[in-house]
Amino acid sequence: MDHFLYRDGCLHAEDVAISQIAAEVGTPFYLYSSATLLRHFKLFDDALAGMDHLICYAMKAASNQAILTLLGAAGAGMDVVSGGEYARARAAGIPGDRIVFSGVGKTRAEMTEVLTGGVRQFNVESEPEMRALSEVASMLGKTAPITIRVNPDVDAKTHAKISTGKKEDKFGIPISRAREVYAMAARLPGLEVVGIDVHIGSQLTDLAPYGVAYEKVAELTELLRADGHDIRRLDLGGGLGIPYESNNHHPPSPEDYCALIAEKVGHLGCEIEIEPGRFIAGNAGVFVSEVIYVKQGEDREFLIVDGAMNDLIRPAMYDAHHDIVPIKAPAAGTEYQAYDVVGPVCESGDTFAKGRALAPLKAGDLIAFRSAGAYGAVMASEYNTRPLVPEVMVKGDQFAVIRPRPSLEDIINRDIIPQWH
Ligand code: LLP
Repeated sequence: MDHFLYRDGCLHAEDVAISQIAAEVGTPFYLYSSATLLRHFKLFDDALAGMDHLICYAMKAASNQAILTLLGAAGAGMDVVSGGEYARARAAGIPGDRIVFSGVGKTRAEMTEVLTGGVRQFNVESEPEMRALSEVASMLGKTAPITIRVNPDVDAKTHAKISTGKKEDKFGIPISRAREVYAMAARLPGLEVVGIDVHIGSQLTDLAPYGVAYEKVAELTELLRADGHDIRRLDLGGGLGIPYESNNHHPPSPEDYCALIAEKVGHLGCEIEIEPGRFIAGNAGVFVSEVIYVKQGEDREFLIVDGAMNDLIRPAMYDAHHDIVPIKAPAAGTEYQAYDVVGPVCESGDTFAKGRALAPLKAGDLIAFRSAGAYGAVMASEYNTRPLVPEVMVKGDQFAVIRPRPSLEDIINRDIIPQWH
């Protein structure tokens, strides 16, 4: 459930008519519902209430500081994957001891930044990274708390580009070598092993792969404890899928997911961390766009809208489906017609949907792409010198621009034309 509903013939975000925001901000823009963000966070928090836990929001999904502050105030930690995300989380007031640092390519400069600023743990992904971290921590006279990300070789049954837990994926160390690598961690100076990390992929719509992975993690916990490691924390990753097609899509709920966690690892007495991104932000955001032209092709109608692949790349990149709805509610009994919904960018890949059945639309009408809150604004670019798409947040009957649209001047003035001699 989210807070984007029709009222008085117009799609609202909480208590604000989206047409009103469009009139003031201009299109295209992303729009988040703060109540929905909090609701999704709370679903996990309540479902894990029986266990010592921390929900580290995977901020790569949507990293505007307005979102981070909101979730942080509700008790969330953050999963960060770069020095930039770390700095952003700190700027949003998230304490270091609620931040976990993931990613396969952490640089020494990032390690230094994060160790100096304070961190809950590094999720280490390889032996060379572990050696580098040991050196950096020793040089700074600090101890880096670590988990090691294990790759359980489990098929997450999701899109190949977002699967991360199979042996051919670049992530983690093979679980078969875990004891050896933990032994190495125990020998290296400047490191303190606190637990195990696993993340098998994104947009999982079946709990079974989680079950297999978490069983392997439970087994490994016992083995490592027997080897003398103090495994007291399990970071179980993110990845729970969301419904992208409202009518026929029912992925597992956070309740079911957390019940599985309790079943598979609850007996170990570990502190549990999870790193959901998409589940929290995905259906808490829409991407609002205006129809520029309706163009008659030879055998189809094109709806040319002012949003494009540079603003929302998921359809072009993953063939992702986003429901498209008109902001003005269609009259009851309206006959739908098929459109190819496309943006203005000069690539055929700039297509949001083909043959999509929609209520008839005309130039000037507003539409919303649903489920766009996660991996939407954060993956946007300025391709075709289109200004980076703005973000807006709603809270009850108020809305605020949380990232303004840059002016063309801002964009043009960033380039430097060298004065060669
Ligand atoms: N933890 C780690 C280590 C991750 O790599 C990810 C996502 C997450 C947590 C959060 O996963 P989530 O709960 O959001 O599924 N751009 C793609 C998704 C890439 C996901 C990358 N890693 C998309 O638009 O579908």
